[in-house]
Amino acid sequence: MKALEIKKGIYWVGAIDWDLRNFHGYSTELGSTYNAYLIVDQKIVLVDTVKHYMFNEMLERIKSVIDPAKIDYIISNHTEMDHSGSILDVADIAKNAVVVCSPNGEKGLKKHFKKNLNFKVVNTGDSINIGRRNLNFLLMQMVHWPDSMATYIPEEKLLLPNDAFGQHIASNERFDDEFGWDRARIEAAKYYANIVLPYGAQVGKVLEAVSGLAIDMIAPSHGLIWRSHIKDIIALYKKWADNECEKKAVVVYDTMWHSTEKMAHAIKDVFEEKNIPCEIRDLQSSHISNVMTSILDTKYICVGSPTLNNGMLPTVSAFMTYMKGLAPKNRVGLAFGSYGWGGQSISDIENIMEAVKFELPVKGLKVQWVPDDKELIELKNKIKEAVK
Ligand code: FEO
Repeated sequence: MKALEIKKGIYWVGAIDWDLRNFHGYSTELGSTYNAYLIVDQKIVLVDTVKHYMFNEMLERIKSVIDPAKIDYIISNHTEMDHSGSILDVADIAKNAVVVCSPNGEKGLKKHFKKNLNFKVVNTGDSINIGRRNLNFLLMQMVHWPDSMATYIPEEKLLLPNDAFGQHIASNERFDDEFGWDRARIEAAKYYANIVLPYGAQVGKVLEAVSGLAIDMIAPSHGLIWRSHIKDIIALYKKWADNECEKKAVVVYDTMWHSTEKMAHAIKDVFEEKNIPCEIRDLQSSHISNVMTSILDTKYICVGSPTLNNGMLPTVSAFMTYMKGLAPKNRVGLAFGSYGWGGQSISDIENIMEAVKFELPVKGLKVQWVPDDKELIELKNKIKEAVK
């Protein structure tokens, strides 16, 4: 297992999790990587670590460059255990290593490990000289945890922003141009939609803070390293942080006896007639994390469920809970569904849409039992009227 030199004296020493398929609810069909970086200067620096079960892979890569006992600094840009999970193991080998983290990082690492490591707490504007290079720190609170921070090396024009700009991709390629922008962009979008979306305001501040920095490489903690598409990925992050939407629609639904399904397809037809691109996603076959990728920059979010036991179907309920947490902004919502006698699923969906401040131009889109042609036409007319 070898390290990969990404700049003179700076190495990727991470681990590739080829078989990862679930990252606390995020469907990682392509696996992931945990990217750690080794900087060899007068001081030896390890930026972030890997999940605990991949420690040996990282260690082998470090050993291909230096004796790990020589590590002077472990930079912990983020406390979440996919990056901090091997800190104790590294500290066991590098006995004198100083763990550098944000103020919230120190609190979080102590709570995680129940141990008082040799911490050095840094804030935005703080810097550590390691010889020929300097490590500058930038706190990135809530992108996406309170402890998150970035490390910037001005002499290398290298930004190490941890989760920001990441993607869940396991691959032999380490760089964006090797893997291909089109595929990398889709996975970066999925990552943003499922992890970073609630924190647009905070992302905006980070983008502003890094806008004045000279950057020719962004090395995140998951997936590919950006060296050829830096402007492109920053432009997308700006768009996503601003919750900029395109005039397109997603119809998300589950169905019991195909009645809500008929309504879903009727709604899709309306958008098509209006020349508004529309995706349709059946929650029995689409994972909620993939649906969120479709929602990321989509204006019209239509969600349908029949009523089961006075509420939504469990699949729709799970999706609505997930979407509520991710809280996409500036959206128009349409709730719909079939029912037998109660019809509460529709108002349940509407209540959640209102909680995340969706605009609801029409409410109560429900049909009893099985919709006939006349009822589907009435449904379509209501939506034609509502969608401008
Ligand atoms: Fe990749 Fe928030 O951890």
